[in-house]
Amino acid sequence: MQKLIAPYLAGQRPLRDGSALLLEGDPRADCRSGGVHSSPLARAPLHSRRFMKVPGFDMPLGEVKASLEPLRRPLSIAILRARNPFNVGAIIRVAHSFLVKQVVLVGDEPFYQRAAMGMQRYENLVYLPDDAALCAWAAERGLPLLVFEREHARVDLWHADLPEECLMVFGSETAGVPETLIAAAKQVIAIPMYGINNSFPVTVAAGIAMAEWTRRHFVAGSVEGRP
Ligand SMILES: C[S@@+](CC[C@H](N)C(=O)[O-])C[C@H]1O[C@@H](n2cnc3c(N)ncnc32)[C@H](O)[C@@H]1O
Repeated sequence: MQKLIAPYLAGQRPLRDGSALLLEGDPRADCRSGGVHSSPLARAPLHSRRFMKVPGFDMPLGEVKASLEPLRRPLSIAILRARNPFNVGAIIRVAHSFLVKQVVLVGDEPFYQRAAMGMQRYENLVYLPDDAALCAWAAERGLPLLVFEREHARVDLWHADLPEECLMVFGSETAGVPETLIAAAKQVIAIPMYGINNSFPVTVAAGIAMAEWTRRHFVAGSVEGRP
């Protein structure tokens, strides 16, 4: 089966070159060695890479993962796994497209891997047993907890401070985010809603949050992908 291997190889994603991110199409992005340019695919001429389709199963997983690593954002996200099997998979899929640094899975319920569309293989998944372990893990890394839970929110997403390095936490479809995590949060954030419903599907909420964080820190249009 033919598969598009990754958008940045298809001419849509900025390529990192030392200290700068070069947009594909920029002549400086060609003929480089090292980093993402070292793979056989990345060494292909730009014109042939732009719409290149490659057999995804033939690409060594380690090579793809290593190529993605320098492009990753400093954002981390956490998902509470309890009674969230489809959403956990779907959020991993979305998180992959925002190239987050790591995805923390809290709890031990299996997730629905087909919802991740295979992207779990390319992501840095961290497995933690419970909320206490999540708080300790974040504290060790100095990552502020940004909890998304509308009912307990103190600020809305459009006005919330979204630090470059942070851990966004999303709750389960049934129980939301527990009190212990809300108490530990640096911020509890609501995504504004305009209809009569109380909440977004958590996958949508996570996508909106990651998109807003990306818009703040990595707006496209400049060579370095920053505002
Ligand atoms: C379906 S909601 C849970 C709703 C509700 N809190 C409850 O206890 O039933 C699942 C998760 O999606 C996220 N979420 C959904 N809508 C949101 C909104 N408008 N603002 C912030 N987070 C939201 C939160 O992380 C929430 O825990």
